[in-house]
Amino acid sequence: MSSRLSFKDRVVIITGAGGGLGRVYALEYAKRGAKVVINDLGGTLGGAGHNSKAADVVVDEIKKMGGVAVANYDSVTDGEKIVKTAIDAFGRVDVVVNNAGILRDASFAKMTSAQFAMVVDVHLTGAYKLCKAAWPYMKKQKFGRIINTSSPAGLYGNFGQTNYSAAKLGQVGLAETLAKEGHNYNIKVNVIAPLARSRMTEGLLPAHILKQLAPEKVVPIVLYLTHEDTDVTNAIFEPAAGYNGQVRWQRSSGELFNPDESTYTPEAILNKFGKILEFKDKPFKAVEYPTQLADYNALISAARKLPPNPQGSVKLTSL
Ligand code: NAI
Repeated sequence: MSSRLSFKDRVVIITGAGGGLGRVYALEYAKRGAKVVINDLGGTLGGAGHNSKAADVVVDEIKKMGGVAVANYDSVTDGEKIVKTAIDAFGRVDVVVNNAGILRDASFAKMTSAQFAMVVDVHLTGAYKLCKAAWPYMKKQKFGRIINTSSPAGLYGNFGQTNYSAAKLGQVGLAETLAKEGHNYNIKVNVIAPLARSRMTEGLLPAHILKQLAPEKVVPIVLYLTHEDTDVTNAIFEPAAGYNGQVRWQRSSGELFNPDESTYTPEAILNKFGKILEFKDKPFKAVEYPTQLADYNALISAARKLPPNPQGSVKLTSL
């Protein structure tokens, strides 16, 4: 990998690039030679209204520093129009950063179906639409880099954000499968779950913390992950305030049961539930960090050789 990561002549689409994180990604891509599509609907944090100014301001900023950019004002739910802007202006699309987002917070008891649907629409369906429209171009040119923007709220849950959490974890699933389907075409797909100062977090976090959370601190890993020399794919990263860490799934070694239904009962689960939760290597299976299904063949043949399963008897509180 060269010492300076150039994006010369790469065509980069950034959704929601009229402010916050998207804007600072766009500026850095442009500084490094990319031709950038600045998409932004220009609505409120809750997703109301639209305004071309948000995208135009960033396009102007890039042009003033000698870079190349075009604006697009469509909603990500019309992702094909955004990709068309890239193709019409620059003839290709190399990188898609799915970044646009809104919030419609409410506790689950108070959340309406409209609030739920709108957030899923913008975050998850929007990312799908962009990927769907860019995919044929990426496949054909055997090159593509995609970032889906998840959130700690998606990975871990957050009070008042069932809509947002569901949509954000949905983006992880979308990325994981696209990473597999893109493998033979040099299309790398990764996820970030950032934390940064923006209109989304101002007012939610204390001022001294916000001070550390400049959106610029998320930029390096996004550019690294979308560079042509990067071979990382199917991974989730948490960037914030200069920290970058990877988050991955972990599968416990679990417990094997005799699968004969005469003793494979809820009481058998009760008896061994503590073992199911054990995260230490066992003779029949090690703890894993999986990126695919467990290899069940060996487990199934070992399970068939077990004696009948013991039933019940363990106090639930001891688990
Ligand atoms: P932001 O509100 O500053 O930026 C989001 C941009 O998306 C706005 O400019 C908005 O106009 C645009 N947008 C909204 N709906 C759109 C649509 N339908 N089509 C096109 N553009 C649309 O927020 P921020 O913080 O920059 O967020 C960027 C992404 O990062 C979002 O996906 C957000 O959920 C995610 N994120 C941000 C975190 C943070 O700490 N700021 C934490 C975790 C995730």
